[in-house]
Amino acid sequence: MHSPKFKRHDDLSESLGKDYFLAAQVDFSTLASDLAALPGPCIVDLRLLGEDIDNSRTLLQLGFAKICVLAIFSAELPEAAPAEPAAPGPENSPETAVFRDAAWIERHAHNLRLGCFALNPNIPGESWLAVHRNMVEKSLASPRVLKFFQDDGFVSFRVHEDKAVIDFFSAVNRRQGTGSALMARLFAFARTQRVRSIEVVTECENIPACLFYQKNNFRLAQTAVIFHYHKN
Ligand SMILES: CC(C)(COP(=O)(O)OP(=O)(O)OC[C@H]1O[C@@H](n2cnc3c(N)ncnc32)[C@H](O)[C@@H]1OP(=O)(O)O)[C@@H](O)C(=O)NCCC(=O)NCCS
Repeated sequence: MHSPKFKRHDDLSESLGKDYFLAAQVDFSTLASDLAALPGPCIVDLRLLGEDIDNSRTLLQLGFAKICVLAIFSAELPEAAPAEPAAPGPENSPETAVFRDAAWIERHAHNLRLGCFALNPNIPGESWLAVHRNMVEKSLASPRVLKFFQDDGFVSFRVHEDKAVIDFFSAVNRRQGTGSALMARLFAFARTQRVRSIEVVTECENIPACLFYQKNNFRLAQTAVIFHYHKN
């Protein structure tokens, strides 16, 4: 039995073809022995706040690889007195559970190639593509995740009370205004829902995405670092 400090992520394990554990409530004094007790082959994913330098050093000494720095962006929406009523029409109404064919999923799985799994050189191309396919498919299929589609692009997001959190944002034909059009629809919808802020997480390595969010009034709120430990 593996330690309960490591929670197996079933979907990711299936896509990667090996156990994928998320480390939670890490006790750094026992981490080395906890890792030794884990059955391999597996990958352990552990995340720290960007400024947590001491624990970052400990992880590197234990054999973790630093995969990427996540930028957590947030955009504040001005407080509207009453929620603006939504104008009727598909333009303003996000879709819920949708189906897209395999070719559509494949284009977006490739387009998200600056994701943390693709940035890990020990995860082969076919495996990170399988992860992306699985995650995009799940995001589309979930009725709780709302979506706007435009040309060959989409944004998916969840609304929790006064906050919207972006799940995926992808425009296959880049730099042609698709992302901006989707963002405008997301903001217009958010204003009808009394949403006060929109949050998105992207990899700092993804400069186009960082510039895109900044152009759309998002500000860097926090950073986090993803570490992976491979046990074979
Ligand atoms: C990020 C993404 C959704 C942006 O969509 P897009 O349709 O390309 O964006 P737009 O054409 O509306 O560009 C709007 C602005 O974003 C910025 N921007 C977008 N791509 C950029 C790039 N490659 N380099 C510099 N700035 C860029 C620019 O400020 C641009 O305005 P400008 O063209 O007038 O200079 C798209 O690049 C994409 O799908 N990337 C791959 C998937 C991804 O990384 N998603 C985000 C993960 S969280």
